[in-house]
Amino acid sequence: MSRKPFVAGNWKMHNTLADARALMKDIRGQYDPESGVDVAVCTPFTLLYPMGRELDGMTIMLGAQNVHFESKGAFTGEISPEMLVHAGCKYVIIGHSERRHVFGETDELIAKKVIAAQKVGLSVIFCVGETLDERESGRTDEIVTGQIGRAIIADLDASLLTIAYEPVWAIGTGKTASPEIAQEVHAVIRRKIGEIFDPAVAGAMRIQYGGSVKPGNAADLMACEDVDGALIGGACLAARDFVSIISAVAGSCA
Ligand code: 13P
Repeated sequence: MSRKPFVAGNWKMHNTLADARALMKDIRGQYDPESGVDVAVCTPFTLLYPMGRELDGMTIMLGAQNVHFESKGAFTGEISPEMLVHAGCKYVIIGHSERRHVFGETDELIAKKVIAAQKVGLSVIFCVGETLDERESGRTDEIVTGQIGRAIIADLDASLLTIAYEPVWAIGTGKTASPEIAQEVHAVIRRKIGEIFDPAVAGAMRIQYGGSVKPGNAADLMACEDVDGALIGGACLAARDFVSIISAVAGSCA
């Protein structure tokens, strides 16, 4: 089954408008739109609209990092799925470990967000991953399949879904999962997706790896059979690193 590789940059809480424009200009200058890789940047809310305009006509797509499940109402500080679509988003990250662990998002809340996002046609990048304690106590498979099983249901549109495996211990720590670990967990995730939908759907679904992906380790990770791209934090804030990871993905996943 051939899957088009997908690289997304999660800018997290970084970049002013001036920073963002400079970064996009550098990315545009270095990036090969014919690389055969889907590319997205997931910016802070304040940058979505101007970045949507900046990316207009480019092959790089726009994503958000969070969303609320209601379409409108008295929800101070929240942003609806419709608002993201109007700002030009194609993607939204849901279930990121920082949302789960820093902001206390529950599986129940995350499940509602996934449904609401897909209802307006947003593609969801759904993040799962175990903590160091969970890994060390041998619970990795149970944790990631549990996170998937409590939010991903057969009624969802699988074509609007990407899974991102982001081990919590690898995020922002410089400790990347080895290609063996990444492959093992990605295979577990694909099996779980097959149980929820069917094996053909699982075979077509893209599963990204995230957690300290850098230009120097991307090729080895991406060479794994079940790794179909990357969700990048720190390294996506420098155009040269981001583009060099995209090239590594193009070379390894193709
Ligand atoms: P780092 O690449 O900085 O480890 O972050 C990964 C991540 O959380 C992407 O969503």
